Order: sequence, then structure tokens, then C-alpha cells
Amino acid sequence: MHLSGKNVLLGISGGIAAYKTPDLVRKLTASGANVRVVMTDSASAFVSAMALQAVSGNPVHNSLLDPAAEAAMGHIELAKWADILLIAPATANVMAKLACGLADDLLTTLFLATKADVYLAPAMNQQMWAAHATQRNLTMLENMQVTIIGPAAGEQACGDVGAGRMTEPQEIVEHIHGVKAGEQAANLAGKTVMITAGPTQESLDPVRYISNHSSGKMGYAVALAAVEAGADVILVSGPVTLPAPVGVKIDYVTTAQQMHDVVMAQIDLVDIFIGTAAVADYRAKVLKDNKIKKKGEELTLTFVKNPDILKNVAALSDAPFTVGFAAESQDVEHYARSKLKNKKLAMIAANNITTSGLGFNSDKNALHVFWENGDRQLGPAPKKLLAQELLALISEHYKNKISN
Ligand code: C5P
Repeated sequence: MHLSGKNVLLGISGGIAAYKTPDLVRKLTASGANVRVVMTDSASAFVSAMALQAVSGNPVHNSLLDPAAEAAMGHIELAKWADILLIAPATANVMAKLACGLADDLLTTLFLATKADVYLAPAMNQQMWAAHATQRNLTMLENMQVTIIGPAAGEQACGDVGAGRMTEPQEIVEHIHGVKAGEQAANLAGKTVMITAGPTQESLDPVRYISNHSSGKMGYAVALAAVEAGADVILVSGPVTLPAPVGVKIDYVTTAQQMHDVVMAQIDLVDIFIGTAAVADYRAKVLKDNKIKKKGEELTLTFVKNPDILKNVAALSDAPFTVGFAAESQDVEHYARSKLKNKKLAMIAANNITTSGLGFNSDKNALHVFWENGDRQLGPAPKKLLAQELLALISEHYKNKISN
């Protein structure tokens, strides 16, 4: 009975997967939750309010403007009642409204009015899921600390094949248990966590630079997980297209040298330092004042080494608990362990960048975390979940270290 005594508000929007929601309600109540249901108008085309009332044991809510319903349990009361708001299925339309903060019906109003943990199980046609606008809204919602469950891939009701199926009810319920357990494990209240994220850009001339494929997604997910764990979070970010995570102090930088200087200026405040950034190892020795002209078949430029931010932080006399990342394409353990030693780190999280569908620019990742006398494999999992698990591991080791 993992959800024993928890008040779960289930929001149902209008997709074919809504027909699975009476089963979802049953599974939530079987886990010990008290369930109340809110439906959008279009959801009622796919599932009956009567069925949901019968399985939840409570009247179904669907209107913001119904005086009788408001008198029984008003929308603010309902928003306060919920410990968890689960929206399943979440359509592309509902995701867009939530991302923008619209409140033109009961469900979207409750999202704004609640302090509950919010989970979304998207369900839509695979092309709609892949659409740029939906993916942008997804990132915005993730940065608002909404947990996204799924979607699963496979054959769709419309005949298409791809990602967009609602995750099965049993898995949704298990996911809610899992994340709650992870959140309880990482407790960093009163601690300051600094995270570097994204790539750096090193200019060659007024129009060109060298950089790398880092999207910043892993670092931003770690920053959000640290906020959820109760820490004060400073995110030092290279140039990325992600929105700033809520609740984080963010410092934007462009070059490795700038990232180094911003980190070092605040490092005295920091208890835990996590270097997820893909920092450029070298920069051009001379930054040309004018555009480099096309001449001959070859171009030779000279590069000089950038400061190793992670190594310099770990070498400080009063160093924070320092965690590095290692993106490797071979001999992962060997290279990760030698970085752990050479840079004098407390922990290092390594990933194999050659594994397809994981790592750079992907929403999923798998990590192999090493410390002096041990290691742990995390994932493959969505970066948000992985970040929560990593933070739980870091907080456990950090606490062991300071209690010794
Ligand atoms: O040595 P390597 O670049 O593979 O190490 C990766 C780790 O070191 C990452 O945690 C990265 O953020 C950090 N790093 C750094 N400054 C550099 C190079 C890497 O902080 N100049």
C-alpha cells in the first residue's frame, strides 16, 4: 500500500487512452490512495463520468462554473486537498495549456492552484508527440518540476507506430511510488549545490567558434533534482536552448574561462559541486579580430589548454564534495577511475556515449557511478529520474563523509 492515505487527484483529458482510466483509478485505490477525478469536456467523449464515479467512490468534477459543484467542493479546496495531481492521459492541447499557464477550465485551473506534486502521462499521435511545439512544451513542463511518465512506443489507435501511447496504468502507479522513494532519499536541505551544465563555446574569430553537442539536459535535470532535495542551487550554464529551471540561481557563461571564473567566485558557498558541463579542453591561442579568410587547402590554428574547472575545484584546500562526469566511448571503467584519482574527486558518473538513444542530446541516459571503494549502475532511464537517483546517491555519500 505505497500510496496509503495519499490524496490523488486524477485529471483526464480527451484522448482515446481515457478508456483505460477506470482501471487506473482501481489500481490507485488498490495502492491505498484516495482518488478524486476531474475530467475535461472532451474526455467525456471517451469515458463515462458514471464509471469513474463508481470506481473512485466520489463524484466526478468537470466544471469550473457549476455553482452546485463549487458549493460541494470548490476548485481551491480541491487543489488544496490533493497530494498528487496525476493527469492521464495528457493530450498535446492540455500540455500546451499547462506549459503556458492558461486556466480556462477546471483541470488547468487546478494545475495552477495546487501545490501537489504533478505527474503527466502524455498520450497522442506519434507525429503530434514529435512536433517541435509539443517537445518545447514538454521541456517547459519538466523545468516546472512536473514529472513526465512515458509515453510508451508501439502501435497506436490511429494505425501509426511510434512514441505516443499512454503508459499502462500499472506502470503509472509504480512510477509514482518510485519517484517518491527517490525524493525521500535525497535530502539536501540547507546545503548549497553548484552544477555546471551544457557546452562552452570558444571563439575563433568574430563569426566562428568551436563547441560540442552537449544539450545541457542532464545538468539541468540534476539542478532540478537538487532543488527537489531542498538544496540552494547555483547552475552555471553554457549556451543551451533550455528554459531556466524554476527555483535555481542561474549564471550564463559562454567560454570555459568564464565558466571557471564564475564558479571560483562563488565556490566558498558551495557544499557539493557537480561538473556536468562538457567544457572545451582547448581555446584558440589567438582570437582573430577579423574573419579568417578562405585560403589554400588547409588551415592550421593553434589551441591552448583551458583551465580544468573540476580539477581546480577539487584541489582547493577547503574543497566541496566534488562529483565529475565522464563521457567515454571505450573502456568506461578504466577511464572513469583514472579521472576519479587524477582529479581527486569524491565520485564520478560515467556514460558510454556510443550507446544509441542515450547520452548527448537525448532525453534518456544510463550512468555508471564510481567512488573509491565501490560503484553503482543507474538507468537507462529518463534524465529526470536518473538525476533524482544520482542525487540520492550523492547525498548518501556526502552525509557519510561529513559524519566521519
Ligand atoms: O577530463 P575530462 O574532460 O574527460 O573530464 C570530464 C569532467 O571534467 C566533467 O565533469 C567536466 O565537467 C569536467 N571538466 C571541467 N573543466 C574542463 C574539462 C572538463 O570542469 N576544462
